[in-house]
Amino acid sequence: MEISINPVPKSDRRPKPRNESNLGFGKIYSDHMFTMEWTADEGWRNPTIGPYEPLQLEPSILVFHYGQTIFEGLKAYRTSSGSINLFRTDKNAERFNISARRLDMPEVPPEIMLKAIHGLIELDREWVPSSSGTSLYIRPFMIATEPYLGLKSSSRYLFLIITGPVGAYYPEGFNPVKIQVCEQYSRAGPGGLGAVKTAANYAASLLAEKEAIENGFTQVLWLDACERKYLEEVGAMNIFFKIGGKLITPPTSGTTLAGITRDSVIRLMQDWGLPVEERRITIDEVTAAHAGGKLDEVFGAGTAAVISPVGLLHYQNKSYALGNGKAGELAQRLFDELIGIQYGIKPDPFNWITTLKFGAAEPIPSASTG
Ligand code: PLP
Ligand code: COI
Repeated sequence: MEISINPVPKSDRRPKPRNESNLGFGKIYSDHMFTMEWTADEGWRNPTIGPYEPLQLEPSILVFHYGQTIFEGLKAYRTSSGSINLFRTDKNAERFNISARRLDMPEVPPEIMLKAIHGLIELDREWVPSSSGTSLYIRPFMIATEPYLGLKSSSRYLFLIITGPVGAYYPEGFNPVKIQVCEQYSRAGPGGLGAVKTAANYAASLLAEKEAIENGFTQVLWLDACERKYLEEVGAMNIFFKIGGKLITPPTSGTTLAGITRDSVIRLMQDWGLPVEERRITIDEVTAAHAGGKLDEVFGAGTAAVISPVGLLHYQNKSYALGNGKAGELAQRLFDELIGIQYGIKPDPFNWITTLKFGAAEPIPSASTG
């Protein structure tokens, strides 16, 4: 399928952020976006890269009322030579379609999604920042666009990809975050939507996260919805515990997202010959390990958050401090390895990287180190 390209005239393109040290996350958008429509009769049609601009949508479309929508999150990294790397993009395309099936939405052929990402970055390559710790965040998403107020799956959809330069997801950067174990609310239950990237999971988390932030924490760590004792994941990342020398992470058994960073951490640990277990783990096991001096490290892993050390866990009115305000040794090693691979500083033994190759039409801006 050919993508039609409607570039913004050079004179109308928006200025790039001058100061890359305070990009934050998700506040700035590049000049272009990708759109493609789907109807039950015709399937996918009109793949287009055009200006990033407001959408015109009827107030009655199904996504506004019943939340039929899914998304992905991935990044493009500027290397020190100025080229641009993508990381395990095939996995995002695959997971997008797992989400699509669960939400009864049409799958997007992975080759179209990857071609669209490539075309979009080709046109907006100057938006890929080059300062240390920055990247271009890529957000593919799909919404149900049939105007109808009855409850059913839509017969029309819009698939879009927007991008924008980002820095650290958390204000703390790579400094340890404070996490509150959520005792009052649940994010996802068995048979529900927890394993897929759909808005409902994030909507379910908002109040708990607001309350945690009001109490001085960065995010919440979810417990399982049935027994409220097994640890699940954090709002925007999977969670790892290093106990007595072993790394443990909850399984992806239907209520948590199968993170691509999580999978990469497990693969790296296996490659290094270090012990890593995917198994259910209770909050009591973690607090007991802390009491016994065996809770070596806790950290989260996600695309936006990268590797995020946890410096404090709070549960049942008690705080459990970790790492004396510093990242643990293993979190640091995993962080260095992952970003080393992503920014092309370290070898890529697993073939996780795709270095984008463009026509010569638009200049690649000169880059400082990634
Ligand atoms: N868990 C949740 C709820 C997330 O939103 C994310 C981020 O995408 C993750 C885990 C980590 O997944 P990934 O490493 O694929 O970004
Ligand atoms: C990501 O890490 O890419 C996500 O999609 C999480 C989101 C809450 C920012």
